[in-house]
Amino acid sequence: MSATIAVYGATGTTGRHVTTELHRRGHTPLLLGRDHTRLTALGEHPRPAAVDDPAALDRALHGADAVINTAGPFATTAGPLIAAAQRAGIPYIDVAAEIEANLDTFRQHTDSPTLIIPAMAFYGGLADLLATTALDGDTHADEIHIAYGLTSWHPTPGTLAAGAVSAQRRGGRRLRYTDGTLQHHDDTLPTVTWPFPHPLGPQKVLAGFTMADVVTIPTHLQVRDITTYMTTTAATDLANAGTRTQTPETFTVDVQVRTGRTERRITATGQDIYAISAPLAVEATDRILTGRAHRTRGVASAGTAFDAPDFLHALHHHLTIS
Ligand SMILES: NC(=O)c1ccc[n+]([C@@H]2O[C@H](COP(=O)([O-])OP(=O)(O)OC[C@H]3O[C@@H](n4cnc5c(N)ncnc54)[C@H](OP(=O)(O)O)[C@@H]3O)[C@@H](O)[C@H]2O)c1
Repeated sequence: MSATIAVYGATGTTGRHVTTELHRRGHTPLLLGRDHTRLTALGEHPRPAAVDDPAALDRALHGADAVINTAGPFATTAGPLIAAAQRAGIPYIDVAAEIEANLDTFRQHTDSPTLIIPAMAFYGGLADLLATTALDGDTHADEIHIAYGLTSWHPTPGTLAAGAVSAQRRGGRRLRYTDGTLQHHDDTLPTVTWPFPHPLGPQKVLAGFTMADVVTIPTHLQVRDITTYMTTTAATDLANAGTRTQTPETFTVDVQVRTGRTERRITATGQDIYAISAPLAVEATDRILTGRAHRTRGVASAGTAFDAPDFLHALHHHLTIS
Protein backbone atom coordinates (compact mmCIF):
# COMPACT_ATOMS: atom_id res chain seq x y z
CA MET A 1 0.00 0.00 0.00
CA SER A 2 1.33 3.41 -0.96
CA ALA A 3 0.28 6.35 1.21
CA THR A 4 0.88 10.07 1.43
CA ILE A 5 2.48 10.82 4.77
CA ALA A 6 3.34 14.23 6.20
CA VAL A 7 6.64 14.55 8.04
CA TYR A 8 6.70 17.57 10.35
CA GLY A 9 10.29 18.60 11.13
CA ALA A 10 11.42 17.19 7.81
CA THR A 11 14.60 19.32 7.90
CA GLY A 12 15.87 17.62 11.07
CA THR A 13 18.06 14.55 11.49
CA THR A 14 15.16 12.28 12.40
CA GLY A 15 12.83 13.88 9.86
CA ARG A 16 15.34 13.12 7.10
CA HIS A 17 15.64 9.50 8.25
CA VAL A 18 11.83 9.21 8.29
CA THR A 19 11.58 10.68 4.79
CA THR A 20 14.16 8.19 3.49
CA GLU A 21 12.30 5.30 5.10
CA LEU A 22 8.99 6.47 3.58
CA HIS A 23 10.58 6.60 0.11
CA ARG A 24 12.15 3.16 0.68
CA ARG A 25 8.68 1.72 1.39
CA GLY A 26 7.09 3.36 -1.65
CA HIS A 27 5.18 6.07 0.21
CA THR A 28 4.96 9.73 -0.76
CA PRO A 29 6.36 11.98 1.96
CA LEU A 30 5.09 15.55 2.34
CA LEU A 31 7.88 17.68 3.82
CA LEU A 32 6.53 19.97 6.53
CA GLY A 33 8.34 22.38 8.82
CA ARG A 34 8.58 25.98 9.94
CA ASP A 35 11.30 27.18 7.58
CA HIS A 36 10.52 27.49 3.87
CA THR A 37 14.15 27.98 2.83
CA ARG A 38 15.45 24.93 4.71
CA LEU A 39 12.56 22.82 3.43
CA THR A 40 13.18 23.92 -0.16
CA ALA A 41 16.83 22.93 0.18
CA LEU A 42 15.71 19.34 0.67
CA GLY A 43 14.83 19.28 -3.03
CA GLU A 44 11.20 18.19 -2.79
CA HIS A 45 7.97 20.14 -2.63
CA PRO A 46 7.98 21.98 0.70
CA ARG A 47 4.89 22.66 2.77
CA PRO A 48 5.92 25.32 5.28
CA ALA A 49 3.70 25.81 8.34
CA ALA A 50 4.56 27.19 11.75
CA VAL A 51 2.98 25.43 14.73
CA ASP A 52 1.26 28.67 15.82
CA ASP A 53 -0.55 28.96 12.46
CA PRO A 54 -3.46 26.48 12.41
CA ALA A 55 -4.62 27.48 8.92
CA ALA A 56 -1.15 26.86 7.50
CA LEU A 57 -1.00 23.49 9.28
CA ASP A 58 -4.38 22.57 7.78
CA ARG A 59 -3.14 23.48 4.29
CA ALA A 60 0.09 21.56 4.85
CA LEU A 61 -1.77 18.41 5.89
CA HIS A 62 -4.14 18.52 2.92
CA GLY A 63 -4.11 15.13 1.20
CA ALA A 64 -2.06 13.42 3.90
CA ASP A 65 -3.10 9.98 5.19
CA ALA A 66 -1.11 10.41 8.42
CA VAL A 67 1.39 12.75 10.03
CA ILE A 68 4.66 11.85 11.72
CA ASN A 69 5.95 14.65 13.96
CA THR A 70 9.74 14.66 14.36
CA ALA A 71 10.11 18.30 15.48
CA GLY A 72 11.16 18.78 19.08
CA PRO A 73 10.78 20.29 21.63
CA PHE A 74 7.43 18.52 21.54
CA ALA A 75 6.16 20.68 24.39
CA THR A 76 5.82 23.27 21.59
CA THR A 77 4.96 21.17 18.55
CA ALA A 78 2.85 18.19 19.72
CA GLY A 79 -0.32 20.04 20.79
CA PRO A 80 -0.78 22.06 17.56
CA LEU A 81 0.13 19.10 15.33
CA ILE A 82 -2.27 16.77 17.17
CA ALA A 83 -5.05 19.34 16.84
CA ALA A 84 -4.33 19.68 13.11
CA ALA A 85 -4.29 15.89 12.66
CA GLN A 86 -7.64 15.67 14.42
CA ARG A 87 -9.11 18.39 12.19
CA ALA A 88 -7.80 16.50 9.16
CA GLY A 89 -9.14 13.20 10.52
CA ILE A 90 -5.78 11.44 10.25
CA PRO A 91 -3.55 9.52 12.69
CA TYR A 92 -0.69 11.29 14.47
CA ILE A 93 2.60 9.59 15.35
CA ASP A 94 5.51 11.30 17.09
CA VAL A 95 9.04 10.49 18.26
CA ALA A 96 8.95 12.58 21.45
CA ALA A 97 11.39 11.55 24.16
CA GLU A 98 10.27 14.37 26.49
CA ILE A 99 8.69 12.75 29.52
CA GLU A 100 6.54 15.77 30.40
CA ALA A 101 5.32 16.28 26.83
CA ASN A 102 4.59 12.55 26.52
CA LEU A 103 2.60 12.66 29.76
CA ASP A 104 0.60 15.61 28.43
CA THR A 105 -0.20 13.75 25.21
CA PHE A 106 -1.40 10.64 27.03
CA ARG A 107 -3.45 12.64 29.56
CA GLN A 108 -5.06 15.09 27.13
CA HIS A 109 -6.07 12.86 24.23
CA THR A 110 -7.75 9.77 25.62
CA ASP A 111 -10.89 10.72 23.65
CA SER A 112 -9.12 11.64 20.42
CA PRO A 113 -11.24 10.84 17.36
CA THR A 114 -8.09 9.81 15.48
CA LEU A 115 -5.32 7.55 16.76
CA ILE A 116 -2.31 9.15 18.47
CA ILE A 117 0.92 7.23 19.10
CA PRO A 118 3.49 9.27 21.07
CA ALA A 119 7.15 8.26 21.60
CA MET A 120 7.08 5.85 18.66
CA ALA A 121 10.88 5.80 18.52
CA PHE A 122 14.05 4.47 20.10
CA TYR A 123 13.23 5.91 23.54
CA GLY A 124 9.69 5.20 24.66
CA GLY A 125 8.63 2.89 21.83
CA LEU A 126 11.32 0.23 21.51
CA ALA A 127 11.60 -0.76 25.19
CA ASP A 128 7.80 -0.83 25.42
CA LEU A 129 7.69 -3.31 22.51
CA LEU A 130 10.49 -5.35 24.10
CA ALA A 131 8.94 -5.47 27.58
CA THR A 132 5.52 -6.33 26.13
CA THR A 133 7.07 -9.13 24.09
CA ALA A 134 8.97 -10.46 27.11
CA LEU A 135 5.77 -10.52 29.18
CA ASP A 136 4.10 -12.65 26.49
CA GLY A 137 0.53 -11.63 27.33
CA ASP A 138 1.00 -11.03 31.08
CA THR A 139 0.14 -7.50 32.15
CA HIS A 140 1.75 -7.47 35.61
CA ALA A 141 5.42 -7.25 36.58
CA ASP A 142 7.18 -6.42 39.82
CA GLU A 143 10.19 -4.85 38.15
CA ILE A 144 11.25 -3.86 34.67
CA HIS A 145 14.92 -2.96 34.14
CA ILE A 146 15.86 -1.28 30.86
CA ALA A 147 19.60 -0.98 30.27
CA TYR A 148 20.75 1.22 27.39
CA GLY A 149 24.17 0.14 26.19
CA LEU A 150 25.15 3.00 23.90
CA THR A 151 28.75 3.14 22.72
CA SER A 152 28.46 6.95 22.55
CA TRP A 153 25.72 9.58 22.33
CA HIS A 154 26.44 12.74 20.40
CA PRO A 155 23.06 14.47 20.53
CA THR A 156 21.38 16.57 17.87
CA PRO A 157 20.33 20.19 18.59
CA GLY A 158 16.72 18.95 18.78
CA THR A 159 17.62 16.47 21.52
CA LEU A 160 19.43 19.14 23.52
CA ALA A 161 16.56 21.62 23.15
CA ALA A 162 14.02 18.99 24.18
CA GLY A 163 16.14 17.98 27.17
CA ALA A 164 16.42 21.61 28.28
CA VAL A 165 12.64 22.10 28.12
CA SER A 166 12.00 18.90 30.06
CA ALA A 167 14.61 19.80 32.70
CA GLN A 168 13.01 23.22 33.12
CA ARG A 169 9.52 21.73 33.42
CA ARG A 170 10.63 19.42 36.22
CA GLY A 171 12.51 22.22 38.01
CA GLY A 172 15.90 20.62 37.40
CA ARG A 173 14.91 17.57 39.43
CA ARG A 174 15.24 13.91 38.44
CA LEU A 175 12.43 11.43 37.88
CA ARG A 176 12.04 7.80 38.84
CA TYR A 177 9.20 5.32 38.47
CA THR A 178 8.75 3.47 41.73
CA ASP A 179 5.81 2.01 43.69
CA GLY A 180 3.69 2.41 40.56
CA THR A 181 4.14 6.19 40.24
CA LEU A 182 6.47 8.75 38.75
CA GLN A 183 8.30 10.60 41.50
CA HIS A 184 10.66 13.58 41.54
CA HIS A 185 13.89 13.30 43.50
CA ASP A 186 17.30 14.94 43.87
CA ASP A 187 19.45 11.89 44.59
CA THR A 188 22.77 11.40 42.82
CA LEU A 189 22.52 8.52 40.36
CA PRO A 190 24.63 5.53 41.40
CA THR A 191 27.08 3.95 38.96
CA VAL A 192 26.73 0.18 38.75
CA THR A 193 27.90 -2.50 36.33
CA TRP A 194 25.29 -3.92 33.96
CA PRO A 195 25.93 -7.37 32.45
CA PHE A 196 25.13 -6.63 28.80
CA PRO A 197 25.28 -9.76 26.69
CA HIS A 198 28.15 -10.45 24.28
CA PRO A 199 29.55 -8.66 22.32
CA LEU A 200 29.13 -5.51 24.45
CA GLY A 201 29.71 -7.28 27.76
CA PRO A 202 29.61 -5.72 31.25
CA GLN A 203 29.56 -1.91 31.24
CA LYS A 204 29.44 0.85 33.81
CA VAL A 205 25.98 2.44 33.77
CA LEU A 206 24.15 5.20 35.62
CA ALA A 207 21.16 3.64 37.38
CA GLY A 208 17.96 5.70 37.31
CA PHE A 209 18.71 7.50 34.02
CA THR A 210 14.99 7.79 33.40
CA MET A 211 13.74 7.91 29.80
CA ALA A 212 10.31 8.06 28.10
CA ASP A 213 9.70 4.35 28.74
CA VAL A 214 8.39 5.32 32.19
CA VAL A 215 5.49 6.99 30.37
CA THR A 216 4.71 4.44 27.67
CA ILE A 217 5.01 1.16 29.60
CA PRO A 218 2.72 1.99 32.56
CA THR A 219 -0.09 3.00 30.18
CA HIS A 220 -0.84 -0.70 29.70
CA LEU A 221 1.36 -2.78 32.02
CA GLN A 222 1.00 -2.77 35.79
CA VAL A 223 4.56 -2.48 37.06
CA ARG A 224 5.81 -1.57 40.54
CA ASP A 225 9.26 -0.31 39.55
CA ILE A 226 10.79 0.63 36.20
CA THR A 227 14.50 1.39 36.33
CA THR A 228 16.47 2.66 33.38
CA TYR A 229 20.27 2.49 33.02
CA MET A 230 22.60 4.33 30.65
CA THR A 231 26.23 3.57 29.87
CA THR A 232 28.36 6.20 31.59
CA THR A 233 30.24 6.91 28.35
CA ALA A 234 26.98 7.89 26.61
CA ALA A 235 25.76 9.89 29.62
CA THR A 236 29.07 11.79 29.65
CA ASP A 237 28.83 12.46 25.89
CA LEU A 238 25.34 13.84 26.39
CA ALA A 239 26.43 16.05 29.27
CA ASN A 240 29.33 17.38 27.18
CA ALA A 241 26.94 17.88 24.23
CA GLY A 242 29.43 17.25 21.47
CA THR A 243 28.40 17.62 17.84
CA ARG A 244 26.78 14.54 16.32
CA THR A 245 29.54 12.68 14.47
CA GLN A 246 29.46 10.87 11.17
CA THR A 247 30.03 7.59 13.01
CA PRO A 248 26.80 6.74 14.78
CA GLU A 249 26.65 4.83 18.04
CA THR A 250 25.76 1.17 18.30
CA PHE A 251 23.14 0.28 20.87
CA THR A 252 22.13 -2.66 23.00
CA VAL A 253 18.77 -2.35 24.75
CA ASP A 254 18.67 -5.05 27.40
CA VAL A 255 15.28 -5.46 29.08
CA GLN A 256 14.79 -7.65 32.13
CA VAL A 257 11.33 -8.25 33.55
CA ARG A 258 10.78 -9.85 36.95
CA THR A 259 7.42 -11.13 38.14
CA GLY A 260 7.68 -13.03 41.41
CA ARG A 261 10.41 -15.60 40.84
CA THR A 262 10.11 -15.50 37.07
CA GLU A 263 12.71 -13.47 35.20
CA ARG A 264 12.62 -12.86 31.47
CA ARG A 265 15.15 -11.07 29.33
CA ILE A 266 15.04 -9.71 25.81
CA THR A 267 17.73 -7.73 24.03
CA ALA A 268 17.76 -5.60 20.90
CA THR A 269 20.93 -4.48 19.18
CA GLY A 270 21.48 -2.15 16.27
CA GLN A 271 23.12 1.05 15.12
CA ASP A 272 22.18 4.74 15.32
CA ILE A 273 19.43 5.66 17.78
CA TYR A 274 18.15 8.42 15.45
CA ALA A 275 18.10 6.27 12.30
CA ILE A 276 16.31 3.36 14.02
CA SER A 277 13.52 5.72 15.07
CA ALA A 278 12.52 6.04 11.41
CA PRO A 279 11.55 2.39 10.76
CA LEU A 280 9.87 2.32 14.18
CA ALA A 281 7.68 5.34 13.37
CA VAL A 282 7.04 4.32 9.76
CA GLU A 283 6.24 0.70 10.64
CA ALA A 284 3.69 2.03 13.14
CA THR A 285 2.19 4.30 10.50
CA ASP A 286 2.03 1.45 7.97
CA ARG A 287 0.24 -0.75 10.49
CA ILE A 288 -2.29 1.94 11.38
CA LEU A 289 -3.07 2.65 7.73
CA THR A 290 -3.46 -1.03 6.86
CA GLY A 291 -5.76 -1.91 9.77
CA ARG A 292 -3.07 -3.71 11.78
CA ALA A 293 -3.36 -1.53 14.89
CA HIS A 294 -5.45 -2.63 17.87
CA ARG A 295 -6.95 0.87 18.13
CA THR A 296 -8.44 3.36 15.69
CA ARG A 297 -8.86 6.30 18.10
CA GLY A 298 -7.59 7.64 21.42
CA VAL A 299 -3.95 7.60 22.44
CA ALA A 300 -1.85 4.47 22.79
CA SER A 301 1.74 3.40 23.26
CA ALA A 302 3.46 1.00 20.85
CA GLY A 303 2.93 -1.95 23.18
CA THR A 304 -0.83 -1.34 23.30
CA ALA A 305 -1.41 -0.39 19.71
CA PHE A 306 0.44 -3.24 18.00
CA ASP A 307 1.24 -6.93 18.13
CA ALA A 308 4.62 -6.35 19.81
CA PRO A 309 6.51 -9.54 18.77
CA ASP A 310 5.25 -9.25 15.20
CA PHE A 311 6.23 -5.58 15.10
CA LEU A 312 9.77 -6.35 16.27
CA HIS A 313 10.05 -9.20 13.79
CA ALA A 314 9.10 -6.81 10.97
CA LEU A 315 12.17 -4.71 11.85
CA HIS A 316 14.63 -7.59 11.53
CA HIS A 317 16.65 -5.70 8.89
CA HIS A 318 17.28 -2.94 11.46
CA LEU A 319 17.29 -4.73 14.82
CA THR A 320 18.70 -8.00 16.09
CA ILE A 321 16.49 -9.41 18.82
CA SER A 322 17.60 -12.13 21.20
N1 LIG B 1 12.30 9.06 21.25
C1 LIG B 1 13.45 8.95 20.59
O1 LIG B 1 14.18 7.98 20.71
C2 LIG B 1 13.84 10.03 19.62
C3 LIG B 1 14.58 9.70 18.49
C4 LIG B 1 14.92 10.71 17.61
C5 LIG B 1 14.56 12.03 17.88
N2 LIG B 1 13.85 12.29 19.00
C6 LIG B 1 13.44 13.67 19.29
O2 LIG B 1 12.98 14.28 18.12
C7 LIG B 1 13.30 15.67 18.13
C8 LIG B 1 14.04 16.01 16.86
O3 LIG B 1 15.26 15.35 16.89
P1 LIG B 1 16.31 15.53 15.69
O4 LIG B 1 17.39 14.61 16.02
O5 LIG B 1 15.67 15.38 14.38
O6 LIG B 1 16.77 17.05 15.91
P2 LIG B 1 17.37 18.08 14.85
O7 LIG B 1 18.19 17.38 13.83
O8 LIG B 1 18.06 19.13 15.65
O9 LIG B 1 16.08 18.68 14.14
C9 LIG B 1 15.11 19.38 14.86
C10 LIG B 1 13.91 19.61 13.97
O10 LIG B 1 12.86 20.19 14.75
C11 LIG B 1 12.42 21.37 14.07
N3 LIG B 1 11.93 22.33 15.08
C12 LIG B 1 12.47 22.63 16.26
N4 LIG B 1 11.71 23.51 16.93
C13 LIG B 1 10.63 23.75 16.14
C14 LIG B 1 9.49 24.58 16.25
N5 LIG B 1 9.28 25.36 17.32
N6 LIG B 1 8.59 24.57 15.26
C15 LIG B 1 8.79 23.80 14.16
N7 LIG B 1 9.85 23.00 13.98
C16 LIG B 1 10.77 22.99 14.95
C17 LIG B 1 13.65 21.87 13.34
O11 LIG B 1 13.25 22.75 12.31
P3 LIG B 1 14.28 23.83 11.65
O12 LIG B 1 15.09 23.08 10.63
O13 LIG B 1 13.38 24.83 11.06
O14 LIG B 1 15.13 24.35 12.77
C18 LIG B 1 14.18 20.54 12.81
O15 LIG B 1 13.45 20.11 11.68
C19 LIG B 1 14.10 15.91 19.41
O16 LIG B 1 13.22 16.37 20.38
C20 LIG B 1 14.59 14.52 19.78
O17 LIG B 1 14.79 14.35 21.17
C21 LIG B 1 13.49 11.34 19.87
